[in-house]
Parts: sequence; structure tokens; C-alpha cells
Amino acid sequence: MTDRHTHRVIPLQDLRPETLPLPTDALDPSLRIQPNGLLADTRGRALRDLRISVTDRCNFRCNYCMPKEIFDKDYAYLPHSALLSFEEITRLARQFIAHGVQKIRLTGGEPLLRKNLEQLVAQLAALRTLDGTPLDITLTTNGSLLVRKAQALQDAGLRRVTVSLDGLDDAVFRAMNDVDFPVADVLAGIEAARAAGLGPIKINMVVKRGTNEQEILPMARHFRGSGMVLRFIEYMDVGATNGWRMNEVMPSAEVVKLIQSELPLVALEASQPGETAQRWGYADAHGRHDPALGEIGVISSVTQAFCHSCNRARLSTEGQLYLCLFAEKGYDLRSLLRGGASDVDLANAIGHIWQARNDNYSEQRSAMPLDSGAAVKRVEMSYIGG
Ligand code: GTP
Ligand code: 5AD
Ligand code: SF4
Ligand code: SF4
Repeated sequence: MTDRHTHRVIPLQDLRPETLPLPTDALDPSLRIQPNGLLADTRGRALRDLRISVTDRCNFRCNYCMPKEIFDKDYAYLPHSALLSFEEITRLARQFIAHGVQKIRLTGGEPLLRKNLEQLVAQLAALRTLDGTPLDITLTTNGSLLVRKAQALQDAGLRRVTVSLDGLDDAVFRAMNDVDFPVADVLAGIEAARAAGLGPIKINMVVKRGTNEQEILPMARHFRGSGMVLRFIEYMDVGATNGWRMNEVMPSAEVVKLIQSELPLVALEASQPGETAQRWGYADAHGRHDPALGEIGVISSVTQAFCHSCNRARLSTEGQLYLCLFAEKGYDLRSLLRGGASDVDLANAIGHIWQARNDNYSEQRSAMPLDSGAAVKRVEMSYIGG
């Protein structure tokens, strides 16, 4: 189709995904799955981490996530009625927790664009894990609204934040967020989060070869000894709009080597099962980890897939359950919720869906020819949540 006024070609493809049918056993009362934290998928992976996308909108246009040409003023974002309400999110979260979830991450889009988000945080903070402890509640943000919101989020029960920051050079950063947002304002947001006690703070830097690799060392120097954990993320072939190419991926091994050349590192053990990042500690003069200097992480989903221990489920902005960041379709939990399902029905559906899970996209892509993953109709990260 061509727009009459601009002659721009508007793709007819609907980027909104279709849904998957629930497993046939999911609503059969005689096949109930007892929610007791022992749930495992077909690869023996537990369900521990729930990532909830609270909005598909963002005030940035990072080229690797929401390229401006696609996410323009005509883009059909979800209408408010399609979003799960805070009550619906909390009700679902309770059922996920009954199956063993211990950590909840709020994502988007930019989660701080969702109005009154601190109310949702307060509702989630009142929930308890199966062993009676508070949840690890965290949030991934671009930091632009933290100066205004950090304290209210902490007051509501948010434990910590992860802030995305792709470089310290203002021109590089402005170009990468593609809305000319200054780096100083994100640094002020990080400082506000620190002052509010939202720690330990993690900083996520997506590394794109040819775009921001020169920012790796300045970022490492800046955050070394700050008490914050800087993580370098391999540019991923997530979604279907970012035009991903393997030659723009800088393998984590190269990142570590580059940092090692100036700042000695030692490998650290994983701190949690299923962790996305491999940890490296800054070494002292004797080659031992110096906790005062802190650590970095590398997230290598392209060159070293970590699907074997993936314990993460994703709830999209409109209440679809995705079992993999690279999934094409999700399960429509919102229809169940709005169709009158009981809590037992919801827990049972989640249990059956997880039990049938077999996803391991990153491992599969490692076996594919280079660049072959780019053309499929995968769901966008801004919709499913990072
Ligand atoms: P922490 O508990 O704070 O360590 O959180 P996290 O590492 O799980 O979360 P974060 O949102 O900071 O994720 C870091 C990066 O890893 C993001 O770019 C995510 O998209 C990516 N990531 C997170 N989970 C997965 C996953 O299951 N698969 C893949 N391929 N990438 C993931
Ligand atoms: N590859 C790697 N990381 C990405 N993120 C968004 N899109 C991509 C991509 N294509 C990152 C964001 C944020 C985290 C949740 O995911 O920068 O830090
Ligand atoms: Fe927004 Fe984060 Fe995506 Fe950038 S990576 S466009 S900040 S959601
Ligand atoms: Fe989990 Fe899918 Fe990521 Fe593998 S690619 S770690 S299965 S979300």
C-alpha cells in the first residue's frame, strides 16, 4: 500500500503476533498441576523469573530495538483497553509465584512511561515467594525518568534497577537513542537511583560493532569501583525490524580481551542459577578479585547461548505468555482472565504451558548459517519486554 501524500510504502504486514492455542490438558480439572515450585519444562528447566512488559511504548528509538522508520507516528501501539490492568498483572503474578517464581522484572518499552507504575510495584511487593520471602522486584529502564521517579519506586518496594546506557560520549549516545537524549540526564537518573537505595544497580550496554565499541573502555573505567555492575550485551537478532547482521556483533570474548588489556580481570562464579551474564571481577595487584573495584558481566546470547538454564517466562503488555525472547507466538492469558477463569484455572494453564515448553532459540541459532535468523516474523522486544 502507498500513502497518497508522501508516496511512502506502508507495509501491510501486521507486526502484532497471533496467539497459540492452550495445551489441550490445560483446562481439564482432572489433570490439575499442583503449584508447588517443582514445575519443570521438557528440558528440566524450572520457572523462576517472570518478566512483565507494562507498555509497548518508549521515548527512545534505539536502532537495535525500535528503529524510527518502523516505530514512527503512524505505528499502531496497543490501545489502553488492551493492556493488562495492575490488578490483572498482580493476579497472574500470584499464580506464577505459586509455581516457583522468585524474581519479577518490569520491562517495556520504557516501563516508567506507564502511569502510576509505583502502584503496581506496591501490589507486587506485598506478594511472597513459596518459602515466604519477599520477591526480588526489579526494573529495566532507559533511565530518562529516574530523577523524577526513583524515590517513589523505592518507597513502593522496588529493590533495584538496571539502567540501559550504550556509551558515555554524548554524540554517540544521542545518535544511538536516536531522539537526541543527552547522556548527562541518564547519568543523573542513575545517581537518583543510587541515592534512593535502588541497588545494586546494573548498567546494560548493548555493543554494536562499528557504532559504540570505542565506548567499551571509557564505560569500564567510569563504572569500575562505583559499586555498579556494568554488563556488555551482544547485539541480538531479536524482533524482525532491526536489520540485524552478524558482522555488527562484537563477541563477548573480544570485549573481555579488550578490557583485560588495560584493567586486569578474573573470572567469577555465577551468583544464581540461570544467570544471563558471565561475571568477571576486577583484579588487584596480586591477580585476585578486589571487591572494592567491583565486577563486570558479559551477556553472550549470540556466541554462547545460555538456553540450557533458561528459567524465564515473559508476560507481554497485553497479557500473552511467551516462553522465549525469540518466540513468534504467545499464549493468551488475558482471554482466560477476562473470560472468568478462576485462580486455580490460571495456575493450571500456566503449569501445562510451562511443562510443554521446549524453546532454545539461541542454541538453535548457533547451529544456523550466519545471518539466517534475520528474516522471520518474530515478536518485537518492545512488546514482549527485554
Ligand atoms: P539480573 O537478575 O539483574 O541479572 O537480570 P537479567 O540479566 O535477567 O536482566 P536484564 O533485563 O538486565 O537482561 C540483560 C540482557 O540479557 C537483556 O539484553 C536481555 O534482553 C538479555 N536477556 C535476558 N534474558 C534473556 C533470555 O532469556 N535470552 C536471551 N537470549 N537474552 C536474554
Ligand atoms: N540486542 C541486545 N540487547 C538489546 N536490548 C534491546 N534490544 C536489544 C538487542 N537487539 C537491550 C536493552 C536493554 C535490555 C533489556 O535489552 O538495551 O538494556
Ligand atoms: Fe526504548 Fe530500551 Fe528499546 Fe531503547 S532498548 S528503544 S530505551 S525499550
Ligand atoms: Fe531462554 Fe529463549 Fe533466551 Fe534461550 S533464547 S535463553 S530459551 S529466552
